[in-house]
Amino acid sequence: MMTDGLDGVVAASTILSDVDGAAGRLVIRGRSLDELAGRTSVEEATALLFDGFFDDRPSGGEWRAHLGQARHAVFAEVAALDERLIRHGPLEAVRALVARLADGEDLATALRLVAAPAVFLPSYLRLRAGHAPVAPDASLGHAADVMRMLRGQPASSVEAAALETYLVTVCDHGLNASTFAARVVASTQAGLTSAVLAGLGALKGPLHGGAPGPVLTMLNDIGEAGDARAWLEAALARGERLMGFGHRIYRVRDPRADALKRALATLGVEAGRLAQAEQVEAAALAVLKDHKPGRRLETNVEFYTAVLLDALGFPADSLTCVFAMGRSVGWLAHAREQATSGRLIRPQSRYVGPAS
Ligand code: ACO
Repeated sequence: MMTDGLDGVVAASTILSDVDGAAGRLVIRGRSLDELAGRTSVEEATALLFDGFFDDRPSGGEWRAHLGQARHAVFAEVAALDERLIRHGPLEAVRALVARLADGEDLATALRLVAAPAVFLPSYLRLRAGHAPVAPDASLGHAADVMRMLRGQPASSVEAAALETYLVTVCDHGLNASTFAARVVASTQAGLTSAVLAGLGALKGPLHGGAPGPVLTMLNDIGEAGDARAWLEAALARGERLMGFGHRIYRVRDPRADALKRALATLGVEAGRLAQAEQVEAAALAVLKDHKPGRRLETNVEFYTAVLLDALGFPADSLTCVFAMGRSVGWLAHAREQATSGRLIRPQSRYVGPAS
């Protein structure tokens, strides 16, 4: 059987997460997204996803200290951020710094890889803006420390909680493209750093984790929401896809979109901004219905990701790296699952070139 884009192909068994595309439901290790988002810390989500995949098991409260120490450990790599990497952009810079970390299969390696994007992105953004990077504070919760490293001063508890909700919401999502890439590399026993680098590479593209930056550009270009329909129709007429809409698995609204909308509501984001986003969303759904009548194209996670992370102060070109901060936990759990209980992933291709 050959399917373009592996559509409908089951390529792994996992105990980690399940995406029900018809019901619009996400379950992570037996817990629904609603149980987790806004109620679970990054440390608790990490403990949940990593459970059973490593020999050493910190107890509940120890995860915060372990992750804090990991942030502290990777901060040394920030010294390698030179002008050339800063010019290349946030994803390229974070990827280059992650590549400096040693490969391994143990919990210490995994926690350094969770810590890496969380430390490298704020450091990169501060250096690019002409400020010195802020060293991690190992005593803080992960999300609060990211906001502090970004701002140079503590953010409000509401802002830290909104980032935490985002990071937990995106921590794992079945066999998405970047997780599959990470599992392919892990299946060769290459090690966790190599698997995360594969995940970062796949996440970067605009069809996957690269979408929220273009969503923000779209919202800013549209401006007055009354002009949305004409703007969106013109984009489709040019053959473009509307970013933040459509999904390989979901045929209904992505449940993560609502989890992020709830986080936005707690932030008290400027009322006009949220209303504009909602109007653009409604216009896009109407336009897409006419554009592809036979295909249900609904809002995906990236639409409100863009609004939320923008409100928290992350620049448009850095949003994919914030996604990587959350998803690295899922990549690592999947990589361990694949390396410990899976086989080498090696499909076949069908040759359609000229005969010899
Ligand atoms: N805007 C316009 N048309 C679309 C969109 C969209 N957002 N999404 C799908 N379509 C069209 C396709 O062009 C295709 O048309 P065709 O049959 O004439 O070629 C038709 O709808 C069917 O779509 P598929 O290509 O089968 O969708 P696929 O499952 O391959 O792609 C994807 C899913 C990549 C997410 C797609 O919907 C898309 O490009 N969306 C915009 C980018 C985006 O928001 N990505 C983030 C996804 S969420 C995540 O990865 C975390």
